Amino acid sequence: MKKTVCAFIGCGSMANGHLNSLIKLWNAGCHDFDIAACCDIIVDRAEDFACRFETILGHKPRVYNDLASMLQHEKELDSVAIFTPHINHHTSAIMAMEAGLNIITEKPLGFTMRAAKMIMDKAEETGKLLHVFENYRLAPAERSLNWAIKSGMIGKPRMLLWMDIGERKWYWDWRDHLDIAGGAWTFDGGVHHSDLFQYNLGDVRKVTAAMACYDNIRYQDYENMEDYEQAVLEKRYAHFRQTRSLKTIDPATLKEPIEATVEDTTTAILEFENGVIGTWVVCRAAPGKVDRSNVIYGSEGAAFWGEGIYNCKQELEYPLNDLYDKFMESLTPEEQEMYFPYGLQDTLAIEWHQHFAALNGIRPVEVDAMTGYKAMAIPMAIYESATIGAPVLVQDVMDLKVEVYQEHLNKIAGII
Ligand SMILES: NC(=O)c1ccc[n+]([C@@H]2O[C@H](COP(=O)([O-])OP(=O)(O)OC[C@H]3O[C@@H](n4cnc5c(N)ncnc54)[C@H](O)[C@@H]3O)[C@@H](O)[C@H]2O)c1
Repeated sequence: MKKTVCAFIGCGSMANGHLNSLIKLWNAGCHDFDIAACCDIIVDRAEDFACRFETILGHKPRVYNDLASMLQHEKELDSVAIFTPHINHHTSAIMAMEAGLNIITEKPLGFTMRAAKMIMDKAEETGKLLHVFENYRLAPAERSLNWAIKSGMIGKPRMLLWMDIGERKWYWDWRDHLDIAGGAWTFDGGVHHSDLFQYNLGDVRKVTAAMACYDNIRYQDYENMEDYEQAVLEKRYAHFRQTRSLKTIDPATLKEPIEATVEDTTTAILEFENGVIGTWVVCRAAPGKVDRSNVIYGSEGAAFWGEGIYNCKQELEYPLNDLYDKFMESLTPEEQEMYFPYGLQDTLAIEWHQHFAALNGIRPVEVDAMTGYKAMAIPMAIYESATIGAPVLVQDVMDLKVEVYQEHLNKIAGII
């Protein structure tokens, strides 16, 4: 493959997570990429990122604190990878495509549907690749469950039950501010889940939802936070903790409460085109007990996330490990290499490999612009339905016919 030369924009938590995955790809033998430059408005972060890259891969990307200047000076780039807060995605993506570059952007594709549509229109106009990072579906467990559902192991799918319930009291930087994030976990993490819904069950037609903010006070006293979400975050981010967003927070304010402007709870009924009915609950204001029951029930069994496939006799017929073995046995060696290049199971590494393969004309990316757009449309339909107090058609949200919740966000982003 021809080498893909990339630049990173935004060098915070996720950019460093991606760097870890690129290192895995490199160490596994894939040398088809380079990072020539990186950019962050907090230039120390870009500098730290460039130094980490240099330590491992031998040369240092050039450092910028402004995308326009990076695009002006960097003439060898193929792709720009976007890791900025949601409100910035469209600005960066459009500038980079206008400079003739391909895009790989973190989810959600845009801050609002209209912002995402602007990015898609620019990709269409310039003919550039628009690839959305949607890594959950690439995990071995997700691939196995999807294969089981698609091959009829649970019969005809009937019902989705998706609980994402817990409590988060700690402050999560820009994510707690509507005007930067566009919505709370229903949107931020929710696009991953809605992508999984569509990956497994196809399109959602109608959404009926309610939302609330039960507790809008978050705390920065991280050291004393013992809630479940903090433990998850610590585990997930442990490997690049030194570069995470908390770095910018003034230690003097650590114990201060902060007012969040996003919701903390949504409940939605999803009606899929294929007749499946789903219940999706996202709550971060539920003390007591975490509930992450994720299930798709069918006419002949049920797929339980984290467990495997249950048959009609209430038996766990295929625990996830067995299911994975069966799934792998069903694949040709070429398909195995496509799903898990170099034998890697790291979802971000796999995603990067898909990007390089697409730019080399080997195969199109899996999560293209429309797939990323659809993944956004369900969380946005939830917010719209909850705001207007009526059911909403997902197609109307995609066609920008329903923008009551988003109107304020579009104004903030300067796009209407
Ligand atoms: N795929 C996943 O599993 C996953 C996980 C976490 C985050 N994300 C996504 O990654 C993106 C970044 O999230 P994060 O957790 O890394 O946030 P972060 O706050 O840790 O990092 C964002 C960085 O962008 C920089 N930045 C802000 N505006 C900028 C601009 N105009 N130009 C250049 N740099 C700018 C900030 O200074 C910061 O360093 C978001 O879209 C988020 O949803 C995806």
